[in-house]
Amino acid sequence: MKKIVTVVGARPQFIKAAPVSRRLREQLQEVLVHTGQHYDYNMADVFFEELRIPKPNYNLGVGSGSHGQQTGEILKKLEEVLFEEKPDAVLTYGDTNSTLAAALASSKLHIPLFHIEAGLRSFNKAMPEEINRVLTDHISDLLFAPTQTAVQNLKKEGILNGVDYVGDVMFDAFLFNLKIANEAYKINEFGLKKKEYILATIHRAENTDDPNRLKSIFESLADLNIKVVLPLHPRTDKRIKEYGMEGLLERSNTIQMIQPVSYLKMLFLQENASAVVTDSGGMQKEAYFARVPCITVRDQTEWVETVEAGWNTLFHPTRDQLQPILRKANPQSYVNDLYGDGNASNKIIERILTFFK
Ligand code: UD1
Repeated sequence: MKKIVTVVGARPQFIKAAPVSRRLREQLQEVLVHTGQHYDYNMADVFFEELRIPKPNYNLGVGSGSHGQQTGEILKKLEEVLFEEKPDAVLTYGDTNSTLAAALASSKLHIPLFHIEAGLRSFNKAMPEEINRVLTDHISDLLFAPTQTAVQNLKKEGILNGVDYVGDVMFDAFLFNLKIANEAYKINEFGLKKKEYILATIHRAENTDDPNRLKSIFESLADLNIKVVLPLHPRTDKRIKEYGMEGLLERSNTIQMIQPVSYLKMLFLQENASAVVTDSGGMQKEAYFARVPCITVRDQTEWVETVEAGWNTLFHPTRDQLQPILRKANPQSYVNDLYGDGNASNKIIERILTFFK
């Protein structure tokens, strides 16, 4: 049986790995490596428990640090694992520092590299994720594209071989887990009423690391005359304290800050929200799958189909007003297969098996 080393490290990668790992283990041997990029219980362990992801065979425990330090630490430690395990391929997801380190470690050792969520582009090189995904794509042997746009992006960069449009594994995860989430929770447990609140998340460096921009985001949210539920990523929490913005948030009687929530809770909170305001890539699509309008606090998005379909609107916090954008967001037509048919994981495993033949 062929052996695959799967590398994950950050919250969205745990979600993506869950459906793929389930299928992969039916036909291949998987050695799961958690880099430790995310390490708090509610940023990591809760996803493994809830999504029944097998316990990692290795936890590299790298933790937080500067980009170079984090990426370098993972590269060094992962190389040792690859020497030890001698896998037939390395599988990685998305665009985090863990992704880039996995790509470098495997390609330097001439181990075939498979990249799930290949071909996404924001065309903004100031984003660390853009660098991570471009470099990873250029050294991958199999590239699993979640959208047709992603296939076109790769083509424009001259990447044609090994590219497959399979759809988005996050859609697989959504379909599998939505019913479970709806059975697990009731909206009043959260002190909320259906469609009478906005769910907001902010965590990206471009939003959190500029105090003016972060302040504008919170002011925009505080100005809405509807309840706003705001699960706080540890990076954002840190910045709020560093910039002394606690007062701004505490004075607002509509913003309700909460701890980061698990995947099932997040699905449930999205499904019941009247709108989602976020800078997360995953949530832009989950809002779409749940047919909830989304406002994206970024200057560009990789998930352009959600914008073209009318379900997602970009919002520039220091220039635009949030209230009128939200009022205007009233999408009607839903296109079913923008992100595949919910069978991306099966298609990926089939393609990997033919690669080994
Ligand atoms: C990373 C990814 C980003 C992804 C996000 C999902 C990179 C470059 N970015 O961003 O693409 O959308 O994960 O959440 O890889 N922290 C904790 N506890 C944790 C994890 C992080 O306190 O368990 C804090 C630390 O202060 C850390 C900061 O959050 O310095 C940022 O964490 P890091 O993993 O560097 O990047 P994310 O912002 O989470």
